[in-house]
Amino acid sequence: MINKQFTLAGRPVGRAIKDSDFDYKELDVRGIEESEVLLENLVIEFQPAQKGWMEQISNYVAPLEIGDVMRCGGIARVLDSKSDKFKKGDIVSGQTCWQTHPILKEDELEKIEDESMATKYLGALGSTGLTAYFGVTKVSKPKPGDTVVITGAAGGVGSVAGQIFKIAGCKVIGIAGSKEKCQMLLEEFGFDGAIDYKSEDINEALKELCPEGVNVLYDNVGGRILNDCLAHIALNARVTICGIISRHKTDNSNFGPENYANLIFKRATMEGFIVIDFMSEAGIARKKLKKWISEGKINCKEDMQEGFENAPSTLRRLFESKNKGKQLLRIAD
Ligand SMILES: NC(=O)c1ccc[n+]([C@@H]2O[C@H](COP(=O)([O-])OP(=O)(O)OC[C@H]3O[C@@H](n4cnc5c(N)ncnc54)[C@H](OP(=O)(O)O)[C@@H]3O)[C@@H](O)[C@H]2O)c1
Repeated sequence: MINKQFTLAGRPVGRAIKDSDFDYKELDVRGIEESEVLLENLVIEFQPAQKGWMEQISNYVAPLEIGDVMRCGGIARVLDSKSDKFKKGDIVSGQTCWQTHPILKEDELEKIEDESMATKYLGALGSTGLTAYFGVTKVSKPKPGDTVVITGAAGGVGSVAGQIFKIAGCKVIGIAGSKEKCQMLLEEFGFDGAIDYKSEDINEALKELCPEGVNVLYDNVGGRILNDCLAHIALNARVTICGIISRHKTDNSNFGPENYANLIFKRATMEGFIVIDFMSEAGIARKKLKKWISEGKINCKEDMQEGFENAPSTLRRLFESKNKGKQLLRIAD
C-alpha cells in the first residue's frame, strides 16, 4: 500500500502560495504498532491559518518545518487497528494531514458515531464552528437587537458566526467579495444585509444599513475593511478580532487601522481570541451547534473539491476568494 503525501518545501512569506511550496511523495505504508491505527483519509479541511504555519508566523501552535507533512484536520476510515478503541471500518476525525494513508495513535483520534454528520466535524462541528461559537458567545457577547457586522462573512467561520448572531436576536450584516456571495448571505444564511466590498463603497453601504452604528464588529479580515468598519462603531461597541486574512500578500502582520481612535470616542473594546483557549467547553458548544443544525437554524455550507492531487490548489482558493462556506477536499469515497 502506498501513502501519497504533500510535504512543505517553501515558505510563502509576503506572496501567494505556489505549487513549488510543496513536495509530492509516495511512500510504502509501514506496519502499525501497539495502540496505532492505519487510516484511509476521506475528506480534509482547509483554513487560512495553514498559510501562517507554512510561513512560520503562528505562535499558538507549532509552525511547520520544511519537510513536514502539511497539517490539517480530516475524517478517515479505519483500515487496520492495534487499538481497543477503534476497529476496521470505523469513521474517525483527527489531524490526518495531507496524506492518503496516515497512521495515528489512538489518543489522536475521535470516533464519529453519526456518520451522516461526518464532514460537519471538519466545519460547523469542528474548529471552524467552535471558533464562530466561542468568538460570538465568549467575546462578542451579543444582546438581542444589536447590529452586527461580520467581515469574511461567506467563509466557514463567518457564515456560522452570522447564523449564531441571528439566533441571539441580532441584525446581521455581512461583508463578502462578490455579488453572488452577498446573495448567498441573504438567501442561504438569513443575513439582514450584505455588502460586496469589491464593487460597493463600504462606508456608504454601512451608513445606509447601520444608521444607528455597529454594536458588534466580528472581523475575520483586518486591513482596509476593518479600518472602514471602525468608522461606524456605536457607543460601547465590541470589536472581536478573529482573523487577518487580508495580510496574506504581505509579510507584515502588525499593520494597524488608522480609525482605531474611534475606540476612544465610542468607549469601545477590541478583543482578539484563539479558539484553543476555550476547548474545555468544546463538548457543550458542539451539543448546542448540533441542536441548531438539526433544527435547521444553522446551514453548514460546504465547498467540496475533489482529488488528493488538488490539495495545493484547494488551499489557494481561500486566498483567491473562491470558497463559499467551509473549504473541504474529498480524497476518497
Ligand atoms: N482566532 C481563531 O482562533 C481562529 C480560528 C480559526 C480561523 N480563524 C480566522 O478566521 C478567519 C476565517 O477563517 P475561515 O476558515 O472561515 O476562512 P474562509 O473565510 O472560509 O476563507 C477565506 C475567505 O476570506 C476572504 N478573503 C481572502 N482574502 C481576502 C482579502 N485580502 N480581503 C478580504 N477578504 C479576503 C475570501 O472571501 P471574500 O470573497 O469575501 O473575499 C475567502 O473566501 C481567518 O482569518 C482565520 O485565520 C481564527
